[in-house]
Amino acid sequence: MSKVLVTGGAGNIGSFIVDQLIELGHQVVVIDNFYNGKFRNVADHLANNRIDLETADIGSYEMVKYVFDKYKPEYVSHQASLMIMDSNKFPHKAIETNITGTFNIIQACNEFGVKKLTYGSSSSVYGNPRYIPVDENHPFDQQNLYGATKVAKEALMHSWAYSHNVPYVGFRYFNIYSERQGIGAFYTQVFQKWIHGINDGQEIVMYGDGEQTMDLVHSYDAAKANILAMFNDNVKNEHFNIGSGQETKVKDLLALIEKMLGKKALVKHVESDPHLVRRRCASIEKAKKMLGFEPTISVEEGTKRYIDYLLKGKI
Ligand SMILES: NC(=O)c1ccc[n+]([C@@H]2O[C@H](COP(=O)([O-])OP(=O)(O)OC[C@H]3O[C@@H](n4cnc5c(N)ncnc54)[C@H](O)[C@@H]3O)[C@@H](O)[C@H]2O)c1
Repeated sequence: MSKVLVTGGAGNIGSFIVDQLIELGHQVVVIDNFYNGKFRNVADHLANNRIDLETADIGSYEMVKYVFDKYKPEYVSHQASLMIMDSNKFPHKAIETNITGTFNIIQACNEFGVKKLTYGSSSSVYGNPRYIPVDENHPFDQQNLYGATKVAKEALMHSWAYSHNVPYVGFRYFNIYSERQGIGAFYTQVFQKWIHGINDGQEIVMYGDGEQTMDLVHSYDAAKANILAMFNDNVKNEHFNIGSGQETKVKDLLALIEKMLGKKALVKHVESDPHLVRRRCASIEKAKKMLGFEPTISVEEGTKRYIDYLLKGKI
């Protein structure tokens, strides 16, 4: 049994990492400032005294150091971040959380002798794909501030791992969705907006022609990749794509939601922003080969879970 700290542990991916760590019998500490995290994502574990929760901001090194000193974690999974839309809206906050915050976590891992650090990068580092499926050697072409902060994160991880010996594993997540997500993930927020909108008979917005694609993978599976990497001593200082390897057209996702709800959407078509990525499709061969990663939740199953959760009134 190990002590594991999860930053952003009340969020979409982080809370699934927390669940899986607890299931494996580890002791878990969560840092979250609840900017986009949900108390209900960790409420059961808190009620059952299965986690320690520190409501703290990773932008403050004093705060980060205080938490590391108090719990002395052996492993860390760093998922706290400002998402795409808020990063563009609040650029200084994006730098403070995604770059300074990440550096604070790396530095504390170094100071407190953490055995391994896993963390969330993003497919945003690639920009608009030059070829499909996108593998890890695809050139970087970050086209927004969020993508730039992810490239900076990767550079910090790489440089500090070599000069200070903090082993890391980073994940370039593609479109990671779950019923637990807040708003702010530009592409996958359609789940919440469309499920509620269609169910309530309200107009929903479709950007562009609906031919644009996402590579959707459920947060449960993204969390699993973190667990596989964390405790595998043979894998360190690597980045992996995490997706399903399949493209889903936005218009097909809409049709799926309509079918599952048994209702037709009132769709308002809006011109697409040319800055938005038109296709996402990951090559996940590296993660399959080196980590034994396999996505297990289909888009149909994930959408069903999302609908059940939302319409039970939990969001
Ligand atoms: N969901 C996706 O599609 C996706 C895609 C690419 C990359 N990622 C990356 O994966 C990671 C996890 O994303 P997610 O989908 O779980 O998002 P999320 O917003 O649900 O989770 C992030 C968590 O971090 C917390 N947080 C934000 N700023 C903080 C701060 N300064 N201090 C402490 N906590 C803070 C939020 O409250 C939230 O609980 C992030 O690094 C994100 O950039 C996600």
